[in-house]
Order: sequence, then structure tokens, then C-alpha cells
Amino acid sequence: MELSYEDIKECVPHDSLSRAALDEFDSYFAGCDCGPLALCDDCNDCSCRKHTPLAYEADGRLRAEYLQPSTVLPPVMECGWTCGCKGRCLSRVVGRGSSLQLQAFPAAQKGIGLRTLLPIPSRSFVCQYVGEVISVEEAARRSEKHRNDTYIFTAQEYFGNARRKTCVDARKKGSLARFLNHSCDPNLAIVPVRLDVSVPRLCLFAKRDIMAGEELTVDYGRHEVDDGLSAAFSRKVCACGSSNCGGFLPFEETLFDDSIDEKGSLVCTIEIQ
Ligand SMILES: C[S@@+](CC[C@H](N)C(=O)[O-])C[C@H]1O[C@@H](n2cnc3c(N)ncnc32)[C@H](O)[C@@H]1O
Ligand SMILES: [Zn+2]
Ligand SMILES: [Zn+2]
Ligand SMILES: [Zn+2]
Ligand SMILES: [Zn+2]
Repeated sequence: MELSYEDIKECVPHDSLSRAALDEFDSYFAGCDCGPLALCDDCNDCSCRKHTPLAYEADGRLRAEYLQPSTVLPPVMECGWTCGCKGRCLSRVVGRGSSLQLQAFPAAQKGIGLRTLLPIPSRSFVCQYVGEVISVEEAARRSEKHRNDTYIFTAQEYFGNARRKTCVDARKKGSLARFLNHSCDPNLAIVPVRLDVSVPRLCLFAKRDIMAGEELTVDYGRHEVDDGLSAAFSRKVCACGSSNCGGFLPFEETLFDDSIDEKGSLVCTIEIQ
């Protein structure tokens, strides 16, 4: 486990990315020309809402369908700094940040874990998984080097037949979110959210009401019961303690072999190597 890291607030691009991928960090969306009092919801004539409906309820919580597995959904896009709207806009949740208090703590066999000091209502935005955005090849290289001890999350999004993988490594640069452990019955889900640029932010939302003091966990990926790959990849035994525990930490085989068929047609699956 890696204890020392540089604390960052937003993801930073790594040199392993292609020129086109690096350029995405500086190419800002046009934004809406709504006024400062606009709500930018589905009832308004907001250009940010033309292709993507508002993903949030009026209290800022994510709409329930975004947390249903196996549903095909449009990407979540928020208003950003190129938009004319201001404080009343309902499409600024990740952009506003979170006032929750999160704390790293010793979580026995799992190493350090992350817990909340305040209760978190279901479907609230909790935090963003920030780190270096690296290429898929670099992610494969790094996870080979740090097998069973990685801080890389890979988001897979499907746009029709096209697939986009976003790999974020929080080993050297990250935030408290890097201490999120895996659970086979997690209380957080990752949802890619876009604001300002087309690079998705990997955002964690509460899957259910979470009590003060509870450990925050996420499903690192597939958790099928042993499929024979555990031995091949010497996967780590899972210590999540849930009644439906799959036995091993998930491992993203597709990073190493692109010929492996993807399962289902989710708009987004998040996996950690
Ligand atoms: C993103 S880090 C999480 C923070 C880490 N526990 C630490 O101390 O820095 C992922 C690593 O934590 C450990 N881990 C996370 N969830 C686990 C679980 N359910 N059972 C066993 N180890 C776990 C594994 O070593 C995994 O590679
Ligand atoms: Zn807006
Ligand atoms: Zn607008
Ligand atoms: Zn807008
Ligand atoms: Zn488990």
C-alpha cells in the first residue's frame, strides 16, 4: 500500500495520453447562454439540456434511474464556467462540491479505508475519484507492476458501438477518495459526470442512506464467484465481509486482452484493476 501521495483537487493529465486526449483537457464546451437566475432544468430553453436531460432532482440528489444497474442512460452533463447561469441552476452538483466530512481510518486487512463523519442521504454526491488520467497502456503497465495493490479506476462508457475507457490512477496524486475500499455490497456507486470538458469526472454517489461513522465502499468491478481467473491473476482475497462476498477482489482482464467480450450494453461500467 502507498501511504504518501500528493493531494490534488482535480484530475491531472499524464504524458502517456495521446495528443487528442491531452487536448480534451483544454477544449471547453460552449455552455448555455441562460441568465443568472435560470434553473437549466428540462422545462427551460437551456442549450445544455438539448441532448442530456437534467440528472438531478431539485434537492441536488441524483435521479434514481442513474443508479439502476443495466440501464442505458445519456451521459450526465452539468453546467460549467462557460454557462451564463449561476446559483439557482439545478445542473451544478459536482461543480458546487460537497460539504461532507470524510476521514481515512485503519480498516483491518483492507489497509486504510474511508469513512463519513456525517450521515449521507441516498443518491447524494459524495466525492470525486481524482488522480492522474493515464492511457490504457500505461494503466496495464502500472497494474502489472502493482498487482493487488492498485489505485487505478477504469470507467468504461459505451456510446452506441464506441467504447471509451478513462483510467484514473490515484497512487501518486489523489485525494482522500483513494482510500475507498472495495465491497461486494457497496454503499457508493461511480457515475461519470462531465462539466466544462469532455473528460469525464468519476463521481461517487450514495447508493442508499449511509450513517455517520460507516465505511464508504465501492464495487471495484465484476464480482462473479471464482471463474478460474483468480489463480491466473493471483487475485487478492476480499475482506469486505458482506454476505454476498464473491471471495476475491475484481480484476479487469480487458485491460490486458481487448479480445475479451464485454458483458451487457451498459452506458457505463466502472472497474478497478
Ligand atoms: C484504492 S486502494 C484502497 C486504499 C487502501 N486500502 C490503502 O490502504 O491505501 C485499493 C487496495 O486496497 C485493498 N483493498 C481494498 N478493498 C479490499 C477488500 N475488500 N479486501 C481486501 N483488500 C482490499 C487492496 O489492496 C486494493 O488493491
Ligand atoms: Zn445552468
Ligand atoms: Zn442553461
Ligand atoms: Zn449550461
Ligand atoms: Zn467481498
